[in-house]
Amino acid sequence: MSNRYAVILAAGQGTRMKSKLYKVLHPVCGKPMVEHVLEQVKHANMNKIVTVVGHGAELVQAQLGDRSEFVLQAEQLGTAHAVMQAKDRLQNKDGITLVVCGDTPLITAETMSSLIQHHEEQQAKATILTAHQEKPDGYGRIIRDENGLVKRIVEHKDANESERSVKEVNTGTYCFDNRALFKALENVSNDNVQGEYYLPDVIEILQTEGETIGAFQTAEASETLGVNDRVALSQAEGLMRARINEKHMRSGVSIIDPDNTYISNEAVIGRDTVIYPGTVILGETTIGEDCVVGPGSEFKDSTIGDRTSIKQSVVHDSAVGSDVTIGPFAHIRPQSSIGDEVKIGNFVEIKKASFGKASKASHLSYIGDAEVGSDVNIGCGSITVNYDGKKKHLTTIEDNVFVGCNSNLVAPVKIGKGAYVAAGSTITKDVPGEALSIARARQENKEGYAGKIHSKN
Ligand code: UD1
Ligand code: CA
Repeated sequence: MSNRYAVILAAGQGTRMKSKLYKVLHPVCGKPMVEHVLEQVKHANMNKIVTVVGHGAELVQAQLGDRSEFVLQAEQLGTAHAVMQAKDRLQNKDGITLVVCGDTPLITAETMSSLIQHHEEQQAKATILTAHQEKPDGYGRIIRDENGLVKRIVEHKDANESERSVKEVNTGTYCFDNRALFKALENVSNDNVQGEYYLPDVIEILQTEGETIGAFQTAEASETLGVNDRVALSQAEGLMRARINEKHMRSGVSIIDPDNTYISNEAVIGRDTVIYPGTVILGETTIGEDCVVGPGSEFKDSTIGDRTSIKQSVVHDSAVGSDVTIGPFAHIRPQSSIGDEVKIGNFVEIKKASFGKASKASHLSYIGDAEVGSDVNIGCGSITVNYDGKKKHLTTIEDNVFVGCNSNLVAPVKIGKGAYVAAGSTITKDVPGEALSIARARQENKEGYAGKIHSKN
């Protein structure tokens, strides 16, 4: 097998996006477009990957890190000029070079491999990945001769009426003989409507020299969507979302309404888990088997065990065990750890707190900076008073503690094992294990007093 190199074009500003953010960094399903492209290029097994950066160079480099080499295109003079920047890294190498655009986030490694295979079988010097587009506006068109052989690519802006009627488009992905590519690039001019050095012109140059030009038309036209504006960005998002959701459904996850379910590419979800509409699963989230999640829930970089039910709730950067019930309307904030069989009910906020097995906070609580043992019951409306205006303090609640309703636990404070806190208490001192602590004004009943008030009115 010949050596394989890849060049990713990612230097453009993306004027049509009308954005502060450089185009290739716009996310699709939570991940920058250029990241999707690099991942797929990696899967296609390359000996060397060179990314051409320009606008937002530092940010793009930071995003891709050491998975790619970088060359700088200081001025964006066109796609041919962009590839030329990789000359020092590649020109004298034998092998094939795959060129992909950083703004085609849906392209897959399988399609890249099929393109390379086609190129090698045809012994071509250049092979274009083409696609049939019912609405080809904006794309370069593939112009073939009477025998069906590719002659050249004409850009939309340079095309005449009859060329514009062609629906076979250049997807912006190509495979070249590396040496032939860099030789032909020397002859590309910028004599066109946009005054740019067009990479597609390499095709006509090689064709005129009598070289074999291949065209591999992919059946997966939706994979080749080029994102130039926000309309295409939302189309890419929809297509990627459908792809990810289908992957999960095929591996045994029920998604009630895939059009309204948003899952990152990294998420792992177990079999027989059911996902209700309006659920957003972001980042590296793992959800176990037989869970019921949603409707209207958001997860980010979290781990959820098996048989857990989470409704109308948010869980970020936290771990949740098995057989847990959360929600409706609970908020599990970062660095929390919820043990097995725990119940977190409506309007409960948990922050940087751990809950041991089978503990409960069923209604209207705030538990922050706390270590809660197992079999603890936190009554309705009870809170940890964790902040003194300057610092956060820890509340420790040991196993089998019962915290009565509407209690304030003023941290730092510790409630010992098996202790009871009477409802309405404001606890400012540690409570020993097995003790009953009451910290509220004693009730006084004044017999007949209400009658006097009534008679005055
Ligand atoms: C390009 C192709 C077009 C094809 C389409 C597929 C050219 C001239 N046209 O058009 O035939 O149908 O892609 O989506 O190549 N870039 C640089 N440096 C530059 C210019 C562009 O790195 O000087 C990068 C951009 O960041 C982008 C990619 O190259 O990732 C493509 O550039 P873009 O301006 O989007 O080209 P299109 O007009 O879409
Ligand atoms: Ca484009």
